[in-house]
Amino acid sequence: MNIIRVKNYEEMSLRAAELLLKRLKDPETDVIGLATGGTPKGMYRELIRLSRENNVSFKNVHTVNLDEYVGLAHDDPNSYHTYMARYLFDHIDIPKENTHLPDGTAKDLERECARYEEMIKELREINVQLLGIGENGHIGFNEPGTPFHSRTQVIALAPSTREANARYFNSMDDVPTHAITMGIDTIMDSLEIVLLASGTNKAEALRALVDGDDVTEEVPATVLKNHPNLTVIADDDALSKVTSL
Ligand code: F6R
Repeated sequence: MNIIRVKNYEEMSLRAAELLLKRLKDPETDVIGLATGGTPKGMYRELIRLSRENNVSFKNVHTVNLDEYVGLAHDDPNSYHTYMARYLFDHIDIPKENTHLPDGTAKDLERECARYEEMIKELREINVQLLGIGENGHIGFNEPGTPFHSRTQVIALAPSTREANARYFNSMDDVPTHAITMGIDTIMDSLEIVLLASGTNKAEALRALVDGDDVTEEVPATVLKNHPNLTVIADDDALSKVTSL
């Protein structure tokens, strides 16, 4: 595990964007895995700026997102389809057909999971997968207790995840109860993983990942200890409970 310790959110965002830009300059990189949430917004802003400044094109890149809420229309302000358009896709030259997210409005959700998994397989492999981390250690929306050997699936969101994400919705009742998420094995198949974390609310999850001895389904992110090419970019607050650095 390669850990890049940074001072704050701004520095995390910049370092992550620089790393991603470097990968994008490599013609071998044609599939990147993306995350949503509060954490990567700054990184997307920096990536848009840097890709413009460096004339880096996304024309030949495919993106695959980790997850999407079940039941939100694509144009719902809180859907991850809307998030990705707003924070990245509308500002870069990526062809829309190259951007992939699970369809949380699908009638047959199991079939949609199988389709998403098959689509990733057809792209061959994810060169670099970006991850955030939940306060409870979830990656994607793989909540504590999710079997490590899981592929794209429908998941019931943990009450703490719904509470953490309620800030974006009008009321708790509006927060979706389920999501489609890449499974743990789907994420682990990526050639490289870059996990971003900022803030003291992530400190316990980071402690389990960096300092903890256990690789346990109770803290899904601990599975990343087994990944051969993991970079963690985290700020002082997120690393405040890590003593081994
Ligand atoms: C988002 C995702 C989630 C978030 C995590 C942290 O696509 O898969 O695992 O990365 O919930 O969310 P924020 O960044 O809002 O703290």
